Amino acid sequence: MLPHVKHGRRVAIIAGVRTPFSRSGTTLKHVSAIELGKRCVTELLQRAEVDGKLVDAIVFGTVVQSVLAPNIAREVSLLPVLPRGVQSFTVSRACASANQAITDAADQIALGHADLVIAGGAESLSNVPILHSQGMTEALILASKAKTFGGRVKALARVRPRDLVPITPAIAEPSTGESMGQSAEKMAKINGISRAEQDHFALRSHRLAAAGTQDGRLTAEIAPLYAAPAFEPMSDDNGVRPDTSIEQLRALKPVFDRKYGSVTAGNSSPLTDGGSAVLLMSEELAKALGHTPLAYIRSYSYAALDPAEQLLMGPVLAAPVALARAGLNIGQMDLVEMHEAFAAQVLCNLKGFQSREWAERAGFSAPVGEVDRARLNVMGGSLAIGHPFGATGGRILTTLCNELQRRDGEFGLMTVCAAGGMGHAMVVERA
Ligand SMILES: CC(C)(COP(=O)(O)OP(=O)(O)OC[C@H]1O[C@@H](n2cnc3c(N)ncnc32)[C@H](O)[C@@H]1OP(=O)(O)O)[C@@H](O)C(=O)NCCC(=O)NCCS
Repeated sequence: MLPHVKHGRRVAIIAGVRTPFSRSGTTLKHVSAIELGKRCVTELLQRAEVDGKLVDAIVFGTVVQSVLAPNIAREVSLLPVLPRGVQSFTVSRACASANQAITDAADQIALGHADLVIAGGAESLSNVPILHSQGMTEALILASKAKTFGGRVKALARVRPRDLVPITPAIAEPSTGESMGQSAEKMAKINGISRAEQDHFALRSHRLAAAGTQDGRLTAEIAPLYAAPAFEPMSDDNGVRPDTSIEQLRALKPVFDRKYGSVTAGNSSPLTDGGSAVLLMSEELAKALGHTPLAYIRSYSYAALDPAEQLLMGPVLAAPVALARAGLNIGQMDLVEMHEAFAAQVLCNLKGFQSREWAERAGFSAPVGEVDRARLNVMGGSLAIGHPFGATGGRILTTLCNELQRRDGEFGLMTVCAAGGMGHAMVVERA
């Protein structure tokens, strides 16, 4: 095990908040990603009782960007509670985008370039940009440049019926064309993960998320929101199904390999809208302002593998590095929070953690080891709660820190898989 190497100043996690997570096309469909982000930042400052004047920067992650406002972080930072001079930037690392925002913010603090940064992410998959075909685009550009009415008509007359077909963003790898679901399906087959194991894991996610909602632990992390057209208060996630059963899950048809597959709507994370934000401070500022941090960032890492191989195995390469950088092992983790893109992916990742072959690929002689299920995703995960791509990392870090505090635990590990064959892992510490 490598010794724990400290780089720069220690970064404190003061508080985290998120919006309710809603299945796309439902209760948040009229709320833009910018509004979701603004809601989180406003609530975060209020809850932490921090003056907006102290904010040095806003970093936000998003995946399906608006073509009209590509730097969502800047739009979020133009809130009345913040001065106009808060510099802000947007990052994208697929499903680990909020994590990238958090680690970029933490790096700025560790370096001494900032003292207080808000990092998070937002995604509205209800509002994805729909593109015109190349033919339609060319015709529209020509028409807009034409100087006469006749010229405009001539340009538009080039349009053929096939040019009218719109292009929607696909949840598929640009390099291979393989969708996330197809990748999860492939990984389940390679690693021998059965349909029954996936359905049981999905059921567990719903049961635990329902319990966390019922007893208020999850709802405490949510900034209530009033969304058009009903403007009724929303304060919980609508993907959680307290009444789902193994029979219902077993009855669902595979989606990505209809004949031989095992990945269904029930054991996949749903397309989701939502936002999250986390307040980070230098340890010194936290002390000076009298804040008791939820936890500190101890280490983190990113990794990648060939997207054509096993797309969602990135956490298996990232986690051992983050643990080594922390100078800790999996047995010392009081809690482990893993993003659940698909039940198959989590179960493959867990198997990978126990594999010597994967350990060697990550540069280690011994595997990470077994994750104690009693410490894993103790309030469910993305399968039930939902997965707004750019926001999930903020949700997971907030839950990890809050639950670690409730249990008086010392260390926590989080992992996130991401498109492009990437993975992220972070270790947090309480003291
Ligand atoms: C899997 C996927 C295609 C399903 O989409 P969908 O068909 O719109 O999903 P729905 O929510 O309508 O669910 C389909 C059916 O399953 C049922 N269902 C879903 N989850 C269920 C559960 N846990 N228990 C019982 N029934 C469930 C729904 O009620 C619905 O039934 P109905 O058709 O009778 O209404 C979509 O969620 C998806 O693409 N997910 C993956 C997203 C992804 O790739 N993310 C990136 C990960 S990094």
